[in-house]
Amino acid sequence: MYAVVGATGNTGRAVVKELKGLGENPLCVVRDADKAREVLGADTKTAIAELDDRAGMEKALAGCKRVFIVTGHNPKSDVQQINVIDAAKAAGAEYIVKVSGGRDVIGPDVESVNGQAHYKIEEHLKKSGLQWCILSPGLFMQNIMGQAANIKNDGKIIQPWPKDLPVALIDVRDTGALGARVLREPGKHNGKLYSFSGVSTTFGEFAKVIGETIGKPLTYVEITLEQAEAGMKSRNMPDWLVAHLVSIARAGGKGAFSHENTQPIRDIVGRAPITTKQFAQDFKGAFS
Ligand SMILES: NC(=O)c1ccc[n+]([C@@H]2O[C@H](COP(=O)([O-])OP(=O)(O)OC[C@H]3O[C@@H](n4cnc5c(N)ncnc54)[C@H](OP(=O)(O)O)[C@@H]3O)[C@@H](O)[C@H]2O)c1
Repeated sequence: MYAVVGATGNTGRAVVKELKGLGENPLCVVRDADKAREVLGADTKTAIAELDDRAGMEKALAGCKRVFIVTGHNPKSDVQQINVIDAAKAAGAEYIVKVSGGRDVIGPDVESVNGQAHYKIEEHLKKSGLQWCILSPGLFMQNIMGQAANIKNDGKIIQPWPKDLPVALIDVRDTGALGARVLREPGKHNGKLYSFSGVSTTFGEFAKVIGETIGKPLTYVEITLEQAEAGMKSRNMPDWLVAHLVSIARAGGKGAFSHENTQPIRDIVGRAPITTKQFAQDFKGAFS
């Protein structure tokens, strides 16, 4: 049986949708049954478990041979995902697919706590004795949803990312499509790490595409990291999240998310990655 941990998130729900489309009925491990029904559908098989709860997670994953793990940013994400890996192993799992971060922001000494956590989790997974596959998607197109109010109300995108910097964005639906296929074929993907993205663009271009789609030209406002940090703090965002987002934008400015690699989507999913134009069309309602 397949399980998806983090099934109600951006990527998790895309994985579940793809698995269902491929004829599977995965077990969705969630913490909120009402949210699961709302975003995954009432017919979805669910088990409730907190990421930190070892006994609960082991019980939830009983009988699941193949487990997909994607959880959110969180200062405890290393402890949480390592807990899920150990619980899955104890519950009889054989193969784990983990969503990680961009390669340039992962390591024991990187600035981002989240990047340090991914490094620890990856190392733990590789030594777990289980079969594994690590997915390293580009920067999510869906991050732009955080700008939806600016776009709707003021016709602006305001970010600490250079307007003309190449960025290799990916639609989370592509990660879902790739992830579901990788989960179904451990024999083919065991021990592999896939870095993948859509076709490279720039935030200036992305703003233009969204503006054309909603019929309202957008202004791209590039702010400094210091301005972004002050803005996030004034909105009472937690310090660790502000630090993480600043570190990602800093690394991004140095090209950490500029490497285009569309081949894994082409090879594993069998089609081209979703374009920014398609993304803008599909989520037009959020911006207008
Ligand atoms: N954003 C990017 O551009 C980007 C790029 C590359 C890689 N990544 C990586 O992608 C991952 C984030 O993916 P995402 O955006 O799909 O995540 P997400 O939307 O934040 O979803 C996180 C999932 O984890 C669940 N969760 C969180 N805390 C939990 C807890 N204590 N117990 C049980 N479940 C819990 C959430 O449940 P609820 O729905 O109940 O909250 C949700 O299902 C991160 O590892 C990040 O480093 C992100």
